[in-house]
Amino acid sequence: MICDNIRTGKNGHLYFAGQDTVELAAKYKTPLYLMDEDKIREKCRIYLDAFEHFLPEGSRPLYASKACSFKQLYRIMTEMGMGIDVVSPGEIYTAKEAGYDLTGAYFHGNNKTDQDIAYAMDCGVGYFVADNMAEVDAIEEQAAQRSCIQNVLLRITPGIDPHTYDAVSTGKVDSKFGSAIETGQADEITGYTLTKSHIRLCGFHCHVGSQVFEEDVFERVARVMLEFVRDMKERYGFVASQLNLGGGYGVPYIEEDAGLDIAEKIRSVGRVIADSCREMELPLPAVMMEPGRSIVADSGMTLYTAGNVKRIPEYKNYISVDGGMTDNPRYALYRSSYTCFIANRMDEPCDMTATIAGRCCESGDLIQRDVKVPSATTKGDIVAVCTTGAYNFSMASNYNRIPRPAVVMLKDGSSYVAVQRESLEDLCRNDI
Ligand code: LLP
Repeated sequence: MICDNIRTGKNGHLYFAGQDTVELAAKYKTPLYLMDEDKIREKCRIYLDAFEHFLPEGSRPLYASKACSFKQLYRIMTEMGMGIDVVSPGEIYTAKEAGYDLTGAYFHGNNKTDQDIAYAMDCGVGYFVADNMAEVDAIEEQAAQRSCIQNVLLRITPGIDPHTYDAVSTGKVDSKFGSAIETGQADEITGYTLTKSHIRLCGFHCHVGSQVFEEDVFERVARVMLEFVRDMKERYGFVASQLNLGGGYGVPYIEEDAGLDIAEKIRSVGRVIADSCREMELPLPAVMMEPGRSIVADSGMTLYTAGNVKRIPEYKNYISVDGGMTDNPRYALYRSSYTCFIANRMDEPCDMTATIAGRCCESGDLIQRDVKVPSATTKGDIVAVCTTGAYNFSMASNYNRIPRPAVVMLKDGSSYVAVQRESLEDLCRNDI
């Protein structure tokens, strides 16, 4: 199976996190997001242990909220001792409402408005990752108004191509994010920031992309960033105390994808950092990483109920489900691969090829093309889509005025609602 929290039960049903998904669908209705809480904790622990063993003192993994953000997740992050990355007042507010200690939060984004900056400062967000000069000015101004000194990291573009899909590739020189080393703008923004009296420059941040599998990307990124740290020390006498390497480790979505040994990856990055710092005579910085997908992706599964099964002789078959691009836009956006099952027919041979289609009024609303399913698949069956914990709930929309599904957490053999299903009334809440 694609992940060790998925199996077939003796009754021919699909089990997730030890629980019968057909029963869960009946209990909570579909479409439904399931999240395996124990798996989220397990993934956090892998990062936390690896950071403790292989990275310099003070290093900390920061969960990238954008992968999935709701209050219960921040309570889990608090319990686990994880830092967080946030990109909007909405994520900050959600974390704050959940009681998360925002001194451990890093505020990202390539266009934080003055209001965003003011809100984040008033909430006590610990670190701002400034993307550009205008933002440095805005942070300085707001910090001065509050007579405080704001911790800041600068987002740097290291000029490294992680060879993932374009929409999530961010480390190349022509990116909309950050200041490039190659053009001299990274140097310039560093010098500029150091002149600000209400900013404490802590170090540098970069993020080169998401769903990264390529060997050595983070090792190369660490090396390039440390060369930049050395150059800034030589040029301005500034010694970075933090180096934030962003997120990006990939996860398998289908059987053919290889998994990554995260602990081993971090050990290898730690080695490069230790060797480079020794060679460049730099003090070891605290190292941050911002995993999102690799913390929550395989803790998620989406359940749908099949509606019409359409057979077009000599052409193709469609299974339409009661959700679609509104709860999972990733196929429509990126042609993302997913493993799909008919959860109540796990003991039947998969002798039919079908496209899983959503319910929205556009042909591009597909969940996955050419899935192998049992030919008896019919209306009322439960369709399960695996590995939907990252960038599904967080990217969901109300297109076609479809309410967003509930999120149900699975823990120790029991289940509870973490986010309620939207109602029709919710859809009109802000309409006048
Ligand atoms: N840090 C920064 C600054 C980021 O921009 C991102 C992701 C992360 C951390 C987390 O990266 P991860 O560990 O999750 O790969 N919607 C796309 C993914 C967009 C990722 C954007 N930034 C998708 O569904 O594949």
